Amino acid sequence: MRAWRLVRTGGPDVLRLVEVDDPVAGPGELVVRVEHIGVNYAEVLSRKGLYGWAPKRPYTPGMEATGIVEAVGPGGDAERVGQRVMCGMQYGAYAEQVVVSAGRALPELSYLSQAENAAFAVNFMTAWVGLMEMARLRPTDRVAVTAAAGGVGTAAVMIAHALGCDVIGMAGSDEKLERVKALGAQNTVNYRDDAFERRMAEVTADGGFDVVLELVGGGVFTSCQEALAPFGRLVVAGYASLDYAIWNPLSWWKAWRGAPRMNVMKAAEASIGVMATHIGYLLPDEDRLHQVWDSLTVFATQHQLRPVVGATYPFEQLPEAHRFMESRQSVGKILVEVVD
Ligand SMILES: NC(=O)c1ccc[n+]([C@@H]2O[C@H](COP(=O)([O-])OP(=O)(O)OC[C@H]3O[C@@H](n4cnc5c(N)ncnc54)[C@H](OP(=O)(O)O)[C@@H]3O)[C@@H](O)[C@H]2O)c1
Repeated sequence: MRAWRLVRTGGPDVLRLVEVDDPVAGPGELVVRVEHIGVNYAEVLSRKGLYGWAPKRPYTPGMEATGIVEAVGPGGDAERVGQRVMCGMQYGAYAEQVVVSAGRALPELSYLSQAENAAFAVNFMTAWVGLMEMARLRPTDRVAVTAAAGGVGTAAVMIAHALGCDVIGMAGSDEKLERVKALGAQNTVNYRDDAFERRMAEVTADGGFDVVLELVGGGVFTSCQEALAPFGRLVVAGYASLDYAIWNPLSWWKAWRGAPRMNVMKAAEASIGVMATHIGYLLPDEDRLHQVWDSLTVFATQHQLRPVVGATYPFEQLPEAHRFMESRQSVGKILVEVVD
C-alpha cells in the first residue's frame, strides 16, 4: 500500500508518498481500508516540528481516517469486517490502510454522509471536550469561539448554538464570519481587522464572555482572557498562530515562548479560570473515550449537527491540503479522499 511519510520538518513538500508493507492486525486490532482522511492543524504543526505530541520521525502522520474494516486481529470479532468506522490515532492515518485498536474504531453515524462522518470525530470531540467537559457550558452562557470558521471552530459554534448559548464567532476574515453567522453566531469579531479592539469593546459592552474556546494564541488569547466576565472560563485547545518564518533553533524557541501563558494571581483577581485540553489523552483511556463519545453523539444526533466540509483533495495531492490549511482561506474541515 501507499502512505505519506514525514522524514524531516519543513513545508508541505517534505511529505513523501512511499510504498510500504500492508499493515497486519495484532490481537485487539483492526485493519481498515481508508476512504477519507481528516486533515488537522496539529499535523501542520507536527510537520513544522511545533507539536509536542508528535512521534519521532520518520513516521506516517494523520490522526483520523474513515473507511471499511477489512480484517480483525487474532481472537477479534469477525462480525466487524465490512463495518464503516471512524478511526482515531496519534499518527498513521495518511495511508491507504490503517491498523487501529478495535476500541478506537467507532461506528459511523447513520444520519451523516460519508464525507460528513470523515469530518466529525476530531473536530467535534475537541469542541465538545473543551466546551462541555472543561468549561461545563450552560445555556445561559455567552460563548466566544476563535478560529470559528475552521474545523474545530465550526463544530464549537454549532454545539454552543444548539445548547441555546449566545455565541460570538471570531475569525480572521469577514467572509469567514458570514459563514459563522449562518451556523448560529449572533455576533462576530474579525481579529485581523484594524477595528479589532473597538469591536471587542462593542461585543462586551453589556458583559464579558462566560466561556471562550481559544484556538489561536498570541494576542487573540490575551484579548479573550481580558474579556472574560467574573467566573468566566477560557479553554485553550490550540495555538494556530505558533509559527516561525525561517527555521533555526532560536526562531523555534521563540515560537514556543509565544505559546499562551497565564498568571494565577491575575486570574484570582479577575475570578476567572484558564484551562487547556488535548483530546489525545483520551486515546489510551478507551472507557473514558466511549463515555465522552456517547454523550457527544447523542447530542449531535438529537440536534442533527452536520460538520462543514470545506474542501476535498485526492490522496496523491495531500501536501496541497496542508498548503490550503496554512493559507487561512479554508472554512470547515479539509478532507483527503482515497480512491482505489
Ligand atoms: N486540543 C486538541 O485536542 C485539538 C484537537 C484538534 C485541533 N486542535 C487545535 O484547534 C485549532 C484548529 O484546528 P483545525 O484542525 O480545526 O484547523 P482550522 O481551524 O480549520 O484551521 C486553522 C485556522 O487557524 C487560524 N489561524 C490563526 N493563526 C494562524 C496562522 N498564523 N497560520 C495559520 N492559521 C492560523 C486560521 O483561521 P483564521 O484565519 O480565521 O484565524 C486557520 O484557518 C488548531 O490550533 C489545532 O491545533 C486542538
